[in-house]
Amino acid sequence: MLKKTRILVVDDSATVRAHHLELLKGLNAEIHSANDGQQALSMAMQTPYSLVITDVDMPEMNGIELCQALQANSRTRDIPIVIVSTFDSDVDVESGFEAGASAYLSKRDARSLLLSTVTEILWKYIHVRKRRILVIEDSRTIARSLEMGLLKHSFIVMLAENGLKAKEIVVEVAPDLILCDLKMPQMDGFAFCKWLKSVPGLFHTPVIAMSAAEDTATVQRVIQYGAAAFISKPFSMSQLVPLIDRILSDHFKIILTERERLDAERRALVNSITSLVAALEARDAYTRGHSESVSWLATHMLQCFGADSADIDLLAIGGRLHDIGKIGIRDSVLLKPDLLEEAEFEHIKQHPVIGRRILESIPSLNRILAIPYSHHERWDGKGYPEGLSGKSIPFWARLTSVADTFDALTSDRPYRKGMSIEKALQVIKQVRGTQLCPDCVDLFLLVAESAGFEDHFRAKQHEEKGRRETGAPASIAPHLNDNSRTS
Ligand SMILES: [Fe+2]
Repeated sequence: MLKKTRILVVDDSATVRAHHLELLKGLNAEIHSANDGQQALSMAMQTPYSLVITDVDMPEMNGIELCQALQANSRTRDIPIVIVSTFDSDVDVESGFEAGASAYLSKRDARSLLLSTVTEILWKYIHVRKRRILVIEDSRTIARSLEMGLLKHSFIVMLAENGLKAKEIVVEVAPDLILCDLKMPQMDGFAFCKWLKSVPGLFHTPVIAMSAAEDTATVQRVIQYGAAAFISKPFSMSQLVPLIDRILSDHFKIILTERERLDAERRALVNSITSLVAALEARDAYTRGHSESVSWLATHMLQCFGADSADIDLLAIGGRLHDIGKIGIRDSVLLKPDLLEEAEFEHIKQHPVIGRRILESIPSLNRILAIPYSHHERWDGKGYPEGLSGKSIPFWARLTSVADTFDALTSDRPYRKGMSIEKALQVIKQVRGTQLCPDCVDLFLLVAESAGFEDHFRAKQHEEKGRRETGAPASIAPHLNDNSRTS
């Protein structure tokens, strides 16, 4: 669940507080207010605020003292602070930043800048802070002071004394950004950047190169080796942190935009394909709702396995699309109510191959290709299309296969009525370890014991009964997992 955005506005003037509230109306945040620093501090100790906006000149405790007090306490240290004050000389601004403020605005600029400043800082704190930064530096003194400074700004810091050590860390824990010295023993910064850019999955990691040598050739060379920026030593944290913020913000904006684009593309494609599945199931009254039911069961099994929600969402799509290849099966075979001839069964066995072919051109569905392709493989190697056995059958296909079999057994077919839930559970247990993966059957049995399982299948069987009584179409296709149909 997303954390609620709460903002605390601190000013001794009720008019200014009301003005700030008006400016922040579009943020969809919960906004609280305090009259002075002392009140604000006690409120911040009790409520987790996402951001504090404070005046400087206030009775009891002024805004600078408030910043220092918030920074000094581990519970409030990470709250970003925006100072909005009539005091706006260079000295005032500097003392605000020194006290830990993330932004300093003059009151006369608040109307035009407060909302955008707050929005940007909130974005930055969600997406940029708490990120992992790897510092590669052979001087222990510099490394230690960088570590202290970055920790103070809520980054997670890892240290390596040269490029070789850094390689081990990077492979183990992919950092979000790397700060890299250039002159180091064993493996220098140039060699490290060159190596990093050659590693798939890591080459996008932004690198800031640090060096005392700031001649044009060095800077050009390191940028050419793939560094995102160069900073010349010595530098202060007030120079480094904004540079890190900017690079990480740009980096994550690109990643988020790309992810949103891919998600939108996937949603559009899945919608189109789901319509195709609906069209496919419309050909066959008896398998209507089958894909949805398989998807429901398989995702509940994956939940019992403890998978994360992204994987569960993806499997839900895979379950819905597992029989998409039936689109390529002739009506005369797919809808045949009688036992199939050998050649007809061979034709129907093509649907996993056709299914994979339909989906393989969609990059965002790559991880679920095994579901349409391998859901008719069997644990004992007697399935199709490849005759894979045991764990060489991809896990998600083995899961789907159990869900597919159970739904097929409990559904009506033209040549038999669907089994009762109890009988179908017995059959599943009987084929555990022969047709079906034992671990997946165990996951299925956990789902079968859970609340909601019986309701789901009884409702489905009730619907089928209604369809029988109202006269379902006579011409219907058998489920393809029922291999006994062949003559
Ligand atoms: Fe199938």
